[in-house]
Amino acid sequence: MQKAASLPLPPADAQAASDTLTARIGESIDAAGGWTGFDRYMAQALYAPGLGYYSGGSAKFGRDARDGSDFITAPELSPFFARTLARQFAPLLAQGLPGVMEFGAGTGRLAADLLLGLEQEGRLPETYAIVELSGELRARQQATLAQRAPHLADRVTWLDTLPDTFAGVIVGNEVLDAMPVRLYARNGGRWHERGVVRSDDGERAFRFEDRPLADADVSEALRAIPGDHDLVTETHAEAEGFIRAVGAMLARGAAFFIDYGFPAGEYYHPQRAGGTLMCHYRHHAHPDPFLYPGLQDITAHVNFSGIAHAAVDAGLTVSGFASQARFLMNAGITELLMALDPSDARAFLPQANAVQKLLSEAEMGELFKVIALTRGLDDSEPMDGFARGDRCHTL
Ligand SMILES: C[S@@+](CC[C@H](N)C(=O)[O-])C[C@H]1O[C@@H](n2cnc3c(N)ncnc32)[C@H](O)[C@@H]1O
Repeated sequence: MQKAASLPLPPADAQAASDTLTARIGESIDAAGGWTGFDRYMAQALYAPGLGYYSGGSAKFGRDARDGSDFITAPELSPFFARTLARQFAPLLAQGLPGVMEFGAGTGRLAADLLLGLEQEGRLPETYAIVELSGELRARQQATLAQRAPHLADRVTWLDTLPDTFAGVIVGNEVLDAMPVRLYARNGGRWHERGVVRSDDGERAFRFEDRPLADADVSEALRAIPGDHDLVTETHAEAEGFIRAVGAMLARGAAFFIDYGFPAGEYYHPQRAGGTLMCHYRHHAHPDPFLYPGLQDITAHVNFSGIAHAAVDAGLTVSGFASQARFLMNAGITELLMALDPSDARAFLPQANAVQKLLSEAEMGELFKVIALTRGLDDSEPMDGFARGDRCHTL
């Protein structure tokens, strides 16, 4: 367990909000008979209205702990991420697709820079819809758009629910990893669901407790995990249900999801026997989801095979799957960077360093993947982003 003392202490008001959320989660565990699935705990810790990590007031996104943030994402790191996506999206919009829809838009940086990039490509969409669960983030997105792209801000609308149909390009960066997962443990060859109970050890309000699963309740996904070694892992029913809902909505167009994760073969590899659950607090990554409920991010890596299967179930085509580095290089990030003047070191070097982080295998280039799910597009040519290094065959 991560010692809270080794991490920066939350300010008093944040601690008070966390205490309120802790009490609420405790009550819902009692109401459920003393044990709840981890997905339920994660949903409350991240999304309880006004108190969850994404629905409360935490800074969340930023460069380091001094600004109170917990992690940084690609659109925050460099505008070249969005500009490169704009290069990939422009020819798709040119196939007569009217809109862009973004899920989980964070601070609004991707929306602002993508709109600016599409403007440069001469392919501004008629509408840019944001689906955001958090009211606090929606206000931040409006402020970012007003500051970075004021002349384009009136194209942006916010949706509370999904429309029945949508034609256009959909994008979600680091959204799937923020969806609640269930945890399972295989011990001595027997499967258990790893849930959450109240704890009385004084250090944390909650702890894990494993419940044996009846044979009939062991899912196909768990049965398919090779070997009989002990392990802990996750399943992603919520993310897969979300992809099915996107598939039902997408009448024509392409959906791009960018996130950290692997195909099932790597996800459930014996070397990953500890699972992928990870928490982020003030730029410290650690595995303890019970630290400061509501004040830290909780995530799991994405099982892209599960995402691909859910998409196919919903009638979509998996049109590309590549590492982030491959996708961004194929789609022209280096050309965009080279348009800057390298002799202007003060402007060039920070941008070059940020792009290096997006591409480097040791940073985001290999762990992060891009998957494209389409319906009704002209697919006689692969999309630029997947022209080389496509890994659909691994899903
Ligand atoms: C890790 S943040 C990423 C934010 C931003 N895309 C970025 O890259 O900086 C995850 C975001 O996904 C959002 N999210 C999670 N589930 C969602 C859903 N079902 N629909 C829309 N947004 C969702 C969260 O509210 C949060 O804004």
